Amino acid sequence: MSTVTERTPSAPASPGALAYAELAATIIQTRQQFGPKRLHEPGPSDAQVQAFFQAAAAAPDHGQILPWRFVVVPAHRRDALGDVFAAALRERDPNANDHALVEARDKAHRAPFLALAIVRERADDHPEIPAQERLVSLGCAIQNILLTAHANGFGAGLVSGQALDTGGMRRLFGLRDGERAVCFLAAGSVQHRKPIRPRPRPEEFVSRL
Ligand SMILES: Cc1cc2nc3c(=O)[nH]c(=O)nc-3n(C[C@H](O)[C@H](O)[C@H](O)COP(=O)(O)O)c2cc1C
Repeated sequence: MSTVTERTPSAPASPGALAYAELAATIIQTRQQFGPKRLHEPGPSDAQVQAFFQAAAAAPDHGQILPWRFVVVPAHRRDALGDVFAAALRERDPNANDHALVEARDKAHRAPFLALAIVRERADDHPEIPAQERLVSLGCAIQNILLTAHANGFGAGLVSGQALDTGGMRRLFGLRDGERAVCFLAAGSVQHRKPIRPRPRPEEFVSRL
C-alpha cells in the first residue's frame, strides 16, 4: 500500500496562506550574494547542510532524471582544491608571481561550507531532456540552497571562474563525460550585511504577448 498521501505535506490553506506568502517573499527579497571572503565560522551544522540538500532535492526536474549533483569540499581537502586554483592560474599566466599563487591557493580556504555544483548536460539515459532544462533544474536547486542558507541565518553566495573548466578541476571532482562544473556554492556566518542591491522592476523583463 502506498504511503504517498501520508507523506504529502499539505499546501498552505488561507488565511494562513497570507503569512506563508509574506514569509516566502521576505526570505526571497532579503537574500543577497556573499562572496567567500565574507563568510566565516561558524558554518552550518551537519543537520543544516542536510537541510540545504533536501531543499535542492525539491527543485523542478523534468523527467525526474536528477541531472545535477553537488560535491562538498571538507576542510581536509581544501589544500587539494588550492593546488588546482594555483595550477589553473599558472596555466593562464605562466609568469604569475608567488603572491598571486598564494592568493589563488587561499581562495580554497574561504567559507566554512563550500560545494561544487555540477550539471550533467549530456547523457544517453534521457536524450529527450535538453541541456538547458538540466541547467534550469540545477539553478532551481542552487536557489533553494541559497534561500535555505539565508533562512537559517547564514550568508551564502556563488563563485565561478576560469579554473572550473580546467583538467585539474575535472580530475579533482571526478567529473564524468557530459558533466560540467557550473559554480561553487559557499555559506557561512556574516558580520556585516550590505544594502540589498536594487532589483530590476518586472516591467524591465516582462512583456505581454
Ligand atoms: C552561475 C553564477 C555564478 C556566479 N559567479 C560569481 C562569481 O564568480 N563572483 C561573484 O562575485 N558573484 C558571482 N555570482 C553572483 C552574482 O554576482 C550575484 O548574484 C549578483 O551580483 C546579484 O547579487 P545578489 O545575488 O545579491 O542579488 C554568480 C551567480 C551565478 C548565477
